[in-house]
Amino acid sequence: MTHKITAAITAVHGYVPDYILTNQELEKMVDTSDQWITERTGIKERRILKGENKGTSFMAAEAVKGLLEKSGTNPLEIDAIICATVTPDMLFPCTANLVADMVGAKNAMSFDMLAACSGFIYALETGASYIQLGRYKKVVVIGADKMSSIVNYKDRTSCILFGDGAGAVLLEPNTEGLGVIDAILKSDGSGKDLLYIKAGGSACPITEENVNSPDRYFFQDGKAVFKYAVTRMADVAEEMMKRHHLVGEDIAYLVPHQANKRIIDATAERMGIGPEKVTMNIERYGNTTGATIPLCLWDYEKKFKKGDNLILAAFGGGFTWGAVYLKWAYNS
Ligand code: UT7
Repeated sequence: MTHKITAAITAVHGYVPDYILTNQELEKMVDTSDQWITERTGIKERRILKGENKGTSFMAAEAVKGLLEKSGTNPLEIDAIICATVTPDMLFPCTANLVADMVGAKNAMSFDMLAACSGFIYALETGASYIQLGRYKKVVVIGADKMSSIVNYKDRTSCILFGDGAGAVLLEPNTEGLGVIDAILKSDGSGKDLLYIKAGGSACPITEENVNSPDRYFFQDGKAVFKYAVTRMADVAEEMMKRHHLVGEDIAYLVPHQANKRIIDATAERMGIGPEKVTMNIERYGNTTGATIPLCLWDYEKKFKKGDNLILAAFGGGFTWGAVYLKWAYNS
């Protein structure tokens, strides 16, 4: 049986900074406790990128360098680099441009994807579409965020959640029916008042008045966002399963965005899959926004088998949310 061209993940790599910010250290910074954070979120520690002038591109480039080395890919062969991030080094040039330069991908077109916590699955679907077109043979999709650059470490409701990190995958054409099979991506901009950074964009530039105000940091109405996240992530994962006549037993792994263990558990329950089939690293990395899903793929790479059915699912700022159904393409 011959298949049309699909886009398969043929390698994955990640990078997390060395510095570990523990719940115990956060107890000294804000009025919180290890017990509250663990019970309400599942997070024990997160990584923080230290070092002057080091931004998201540093972590993304480290992930991509590892990816190219492990897959034996010449950077000059890369056709495109897409970087999902909400924490670009600067407004422009975009982070993907910087990464392309840092890894020597001189023949690649490159751009950023801003879809918050759903950024990686949006970028994956975009990169896969380029491969399916037939014109692109090697596309690198990155999810990377230096959340510590936008977190307000005086706000105990949000500073306990986030960490820094980067993950990257290589997409290549496949004719065995493996790789990205389907994606359902959604958005609802009316969520803008519940999860945002107010200042620093064109509507509200940084001024002398707001430079030290909380407006320049990440804001989230956690309780309200939780309600949307828990229903919409589960809804879209279920929709994907129904569309492909899949039941829990058919799924090898759910690879969810790591925002809160309780949201992940609820999604898995709705899908009818047990905890052993859920990739989870939130306890070690917290919420790294664009990087959560590729970091999970990196952590679990050795467990995945060729032909495994994976459902990737995310919900985040915008709102944006969605699910990707893919068949894993290799044994490692
Ligand atoms: O990735 C992008 C999408 N984001 C998400 O999906 C995140 C969605 N939201 C969440 O994960 C959760 O809502 C949070 C983890 C942010 C908060 O958990 P929660 O169970 O919804 O807590 P809550 O906001 O309802 O707060 C419960 C209590 C409050 O005290 P009162 O009003 O009951 O006295 C808070 O003030 O916990 C208090 N609280 C804390 N206590 C200790 C809030 N933050 C903390 C804290 N330490 N860090």
